[in-house]
Amino acid sequence: MSTSASATGGPTVSSPASSTGFDLDRVRADFPILRRTVRGGKRLVYLDSAATSQKPVEVLDAERAFYEVSNAAVHRGAHQLAEEATEAYEQARRRIAGFVGAAAGDLIFTKNATEALNLAAYSFTNATAKSAVGADLPDGAERFVLKPGDEIVVTEMEHHANLVPWQEVCVKTGARLRWLGITDDGRLDLSRLGEIVNERTKVLAVVHQSNLLGTINPLKPLAERAREVGALFVVDACQSVPHVPVDVADTGADLIAWSGHKMLGPMGIGCLWGRAEVLAAMPPFITGGSMIKVVRMESSTYADPPQRFEAGVPMAAQAVGLAAAVEYLERLGMDVVAAHERELTGYLLNRMRELSGVAIIGPETTVDRGGTVSFVIDGVHAHDVGQVLDDRGVAVRVGHHCAWPTCERFGVRATARASLAVYNGRDDVDALIDAIGDTQRFFGTR
Ligand code: ALA
Repeated sequence: MSTSASATGGPTVSSPASSTGFDLDRVRADFPILRRTVRGGKRLVYLDSAATSQKPVEVLDAERAFYEVSNAAVHRGAHQLAEEATEAYEQARRRIAGFVGAAAGDLIFTKNATEALNLAAYSFTNATAKSAVGADLPDGAERFVLKPGDEIVVTEMEHHANLVPWQEVCVKTGARLRWLGITDDGRLDLSRLGEIVNERTKVLAVVHQSNLLGTINPLKPLAERAREVGALFVVDACQSVPHVPVDVADTGADLIAWSGHKMLGPMGIGCLWGRAEVLAAMPPFITGGSMIKVVRMESSTYADPPQRFEAGVPMAAQAVGLAAAVEYLERLGMDVVAAHERELTGYLLNRMRELSGVAIIGPETTVDRGGTVSFVIDGVHAHDVGQVLDDRGVAVRVGHHCAWPTCERFGVRATARASLAVYNGRDDVDALIDAIGDTQRFFGTR
């Protein structure tokens, strides 16, 4: 890996510190929180990045600088600060859209990925309700109007954020919810794809990388089948965009949701990308200021996307912070990030497979899987695992991970889950493995 000096003081790949040519120490130095200790002076071993990632100093600085220098409500006001804030916000949109190969006008900012997926789901309930009373709808909105007999297809490995909103759509419209199952080795079962996704299917909503299993789903056959039957293809990319290069056009998706805080960015901002003609046909979700064309006492008309979907004063500082996160990842190079995390995932899986009394829930190799590794320890509840690990300074998530049906599919009530990010190294994995051994000894299961 070649050396590239960064004039801005950002991350550089300066010396091959691992087989992927990735300078981990240099990267870690960018994350102030990694310098703190926990539980009586222990090194923080942060393995919970699927829940939220840590933030490099560039992101913290960018948010602070926005508030210190340009803070104003964007898209309102004629003063200089309003102008600068609006430019910073729209520049952030261009930057973040570019990160996923998108046009800026096709990127909507939301509060988080859950809101982005609700926006997609509410397009259907709102279009259906408006159609029922003969209200005006955007051209092309018929595809969002549902009736009893229509079907929405999800998968058994969805995060609740890409399941519950669709259940709600079904309750409100009479549509039927169906799902693709999971194979015993943690893969999406595509054997009944042609039957389950059929001419009645109006939506196919699928997670790109499972937040519980780590499985990376093959989007191509899903996109092709959705297109064949005329269904809208919605992708939850929360766990993929932060870790691997994603180009929206390559996914075949109509709508893609992801969060900012899982990709080194601030909390309080999510993204929804949509194909331009799909967004143009969608009725609004949250209504109010800034999303209108004309307002009269009797009724209103609505702006074009993306403003149609950004009612209220938007989260400008968070957008600026997320743009800084994107710049940080781009300077590292998403190929380098992905290679580093893949190598580390392989190491983690290998070390975990060597342990007796520990089962991985999800694929056991790095083939089409990311660095989110759920596991159970024989005879020890996941919450107890989490507590002993925490006592050793190792932060993991425990529970059903907002993917309760996925746990049920594997007959477990809860798992412990270690999830990797760009700032993790083999020392973190070793600390986890040691702490698992301590857990087994503590509970007398080893
Ligand atoms: N969705 C996040 C997770 O899986 C919070 O942990």
